[in-house]
Amino acid sequence: METVHKKVSTDEVQIERKLEFSTFYRLHHWVRVLSIIVLMVTGFYIAAPYVSPAVTPEPTNFMNALFRSWHVIFGFVMISMFIGKTYYFLFVKSDRAEINSVKDLFSLKNWSKQIGYYFLVTKHPHLTGAYNVVQFMAYTAFYFMTIGLILTGLILYVHVYHQGIGGILYDSMRHLEVMLGGLANVREIHHLLMWGVILFIIVHIYMAVFNAVYGKEGSIDSIISGYKWHEKH
Ligand code: HEM
Repeated sequence: METVHKKVSTDEVQIERKLEFSTFYRLHHWVRVLSIIVLMVTGFYIAAPYVSPAVTPEPTNFMNALFRSWHVIFGFVMISMFIGKTYYFLFVKSDRAEINSVKDLFSLKNWSKQIGYYFLVTKHPHLTGAYNVVQFMAYTAFYFMTIGLILTGLILYVHVYHQGIGGILYDSMRHLEVMLGGLANVREIHHLLMWGVILFIIVHIYMAVFNAVYGKEGSIDSIISGYKWHEKH
């Protein structure tokens, strides 16, 4: 931990630099950002093709297949990030900052202070872990939307690729497909969940900027550098 002296008007405030996000955490965040961008661009195309290939007499412009293969490639990147992140959250002993946030969810005082903070009427509550209660709930919702996208994505996938993973998952995914009301429904759910993710991203970026401006702890920088700045008491 590193301490620096900063002059703020007439008061001397000591702030210290604390490692908030590990290398794995930051890397997985940006890999997911890239994957979600690719999945949205290609997903919108699959839903309603918005570009057409150059006209040529050769039947070689399989543009739909190209978009779908990039979608599937980054779909599997998302799946691997999901597995890695779940393992990290639950089992990595050296970083308990995320899982420690669960404790705050059971404190009514914490909830009211946090909501008050967002309305600019109370001070930020003390956090036991890395996330505040509202943030934690939003990330949980995102986690479940990701599970939904992965499962519906895999159902769509086994209809297109019948070998390898597609073959292994075929029977179980067909059962799930029936439970979800058929393939047309699955496609609709997959699409709607994408809009859920879009909503999450808009709120996530707004809140990140809000916290960076009002918290003055370098919270946006921290997802690149790993470090946040805290006032020393
Ligand atoms: C953030 C994550 C994801 C987003 C935003 C997304 C978005 C979309 C969208 C919008 C569609 C078109 C649905 C329609 O026709 O209306 C689609 C189709 C599809 N997605 Fe995803 N998806 C995601 C994750 C995944 C994952 C994890 C997989 C698993 C491999 C996957 C596999 C597929 C497949 C196979 C199709 C159908 C392709 C076809 O019809 O040929 N997606 N996705």
